[in-house]
Amino acid sequence: MCGIVGYVGSKNAQDVLLSGLAKLEYRGYDSAGIAIYENGEVKISKTVGRLAALESMLADSPLSGKVGIGHTRWATHGKPSDENAHPHAGCASDFAVVHNGIIENYQQLKDRLMVAGHRFVSETDTEIIAHLLEEHWTGELFATVLKVLKEVRGAYALAIMTQRDPGKLVAVRKHSPLVIGLGQGENFCASDIPALLGYTRDVLIMEEGEIALITDAAVECFDLSGRPLEKKVFQVTWDAVAAEKGGFDHYMLKEIHEQPRAVRDTMSGRLSEDGKRVTLPEIKWPDGFVQTWDRIHIVAAGTSYHAGLVGKAVIESLTRIPVDVEIASEYRYRDPILTAHTLVIVISQSGETADTLAALRISKERGVRVLAITNVVGSSVAREADDVIVTWAGPEISVASTKAYTTQLIALYLLALYLGQERGRLGAEFVADFLEDMRELPKRLEEILGSSPWIERTAKDFSVWEDAFFLGRGTDYAVALEGALKYKEISYIHAEAYPAGELKHGTLALVVEGVPVIALVTVDALYEKSVSNIKEVKARGAHVLAISWAGDEEIGKSADRVLYIPRTRAELAPVLLVLPLQLLAYYASVARGNDVDKPRNLAKSVTVE
Ligand code: M6R
Repeated sequence: MCGIVGYVGSKNAQDVLLSGLAKLEYRGYDSAGIAIYENGEVKISKTVGRLAALESMLADSPLSGKVGIGHTRWATHGKPSDENAHPHAGCASDFAVVHNGIIENYQQLKDRLMVAGHRFVSETDTEIIAHLLEEHWTGELFATVLKVLKEVRGAYALAIMTQRDPGKLVAVRKHSPLVIGLGQGENFCASDIPALLGYTRDVLIMEEGEIALITDAAVECFDLSGRPLEKKVFQVTWDAVAAEKGGFDHYMLKEIHEQPRAVRDTMSGRLSEDGKRVTLPEIKWPDGFVQTWDRIHIVAAGTSYHAGLVGKAVIESLTRIPVDVEIASEYRYRDPILTAHTLVIVISQSGETADTLAALRISKERGVRVLAITNVVGSSVAREADDVIVTWAGPEISVASTKAYTTQLIALYLLALYLGQERGRLGAEFVADFLEDMRELPKRLEEILGSSPWIERTAKDFSVWEDAFFLGRGTDYAVALEGALKYKEISYIHAEAYPAGELKHGTLALVVEGVPVIALVTVDALYEKSVSNIKEVKARGAHVLAISWAGDEEIGKSADRVLYIPRTRAELAPVLLVLPLQLLAYYASVARGNDVDKPRNLAKSVTVE
């Protein structure tokens, strides 16, 4: 996730771009840059670091002009660096391109362009766009961009300008957000509305596969075959603070709603062209290595640890490689048994958690290969691991982790499938079907988001209690742990997760009349046992919310309330199940008047022991 902004008008473009980027920094902040049309040339100023670094660079050497584009980056392809910062130019430096998204086929295009003599200066996927514009130049920017897009596969929001056709911006949207701002004698584009609010409240929301030609006098919108489109102007009535959260009351709710997009992005670029195999191009194990792993250690903390528990279940089931999941703060002090055939996987949203980093370092010191799953490309974990799978969730601002967890699960499913496929354990048809089901997840997540009002009412009822119990078996238990953590973290209600069959060994004593019990019931093979556990707590007076598959007509006879989630393959249930639990925690926290995004005593990134 990155932020892009563009301006054409009569104001000083540098000021407009910098103020817009300041409102988009929540989308990424590892580097920033702008391009401005100045004295007949496109001039670029960019630097690694937060926007403040760019501002001080421009304070020393300002750019002056009325047309420009800007970018604040959250690295996906290539570490945070001056070279990888946007905008990107072609060989002759007369184009400027800013991009949010992922170009899936960039490596093939880059190889071809290099053979044709193009010189690349960055490791980004974005730079290929600038070189393709040079290749396909028609004498006119808009027509050239249309030609270039025919070659490009993936997700993108783009803003493009060139000195060859000045006074124009071309903006494109495909699977990454983009809005156009309409002014008097000036027009804008941006990844999100807050960037525009200082200048206009009249916006055009670009839809999938739309392209706009923007000048100071007009904005024309087209589909990607160049057919003109009529678009309705949307009047923004939100105040600036609400707009920064995309109209949501809290970052956590916004991030919960971003999960369909984040899941799609995390799969993107990691499958074969026909979508039937996992390619994971970022894994660079030496030839034959994939066959050698005979044990996997997953090491992480908090929510990332909970993702690891689901990872264990899926890796063991798809590959039969034994997996241990360990809490990083324990692992680092316990002299783990590591051999040349052990693969260590560390999971960390921030990539800076001190305990996880220590576990990584210990493993590396012992000569073991470490694979990291992280959300932050330039983080310490990403830099020090041997191989890295980046979760393309985009920056997570709320302390309570939501979209990072979901995308960690996606990365773990892809890894499990990759291992199974490469070790010859999984048939081609099985992998293709599994991936097909994974591609459906964003749609299913959207369906569950539709139950938000029902979940809000339930959370309100539950929020008057000082305890809650989360039960599950198998992977339902792993998700119950995450549900309980989320609940206690932001609602401050004591919440415990239990393997449902374990209750009778002690915790059942805490179940009293009316206490909320959230029972997860998606493991078909253990369905009857889970129902018995529901009856067990019901007999002690608990108030049970069961979460089960749509079509389960029996569960309503045992539970007080039932939330149905759409059916998917059993292994993927955790991705869907966690969403109502995140919403339950969120609304309970709101009902209790807590500071949802910044819960007491906690920090987003725990960089000390
Ligand atoms: O950045 P990391 O994934 O390494 O962070 C690990 C935990 O601190 C984190 O998941 C924490 O448990 C969350 N705040 C839970 O919502």
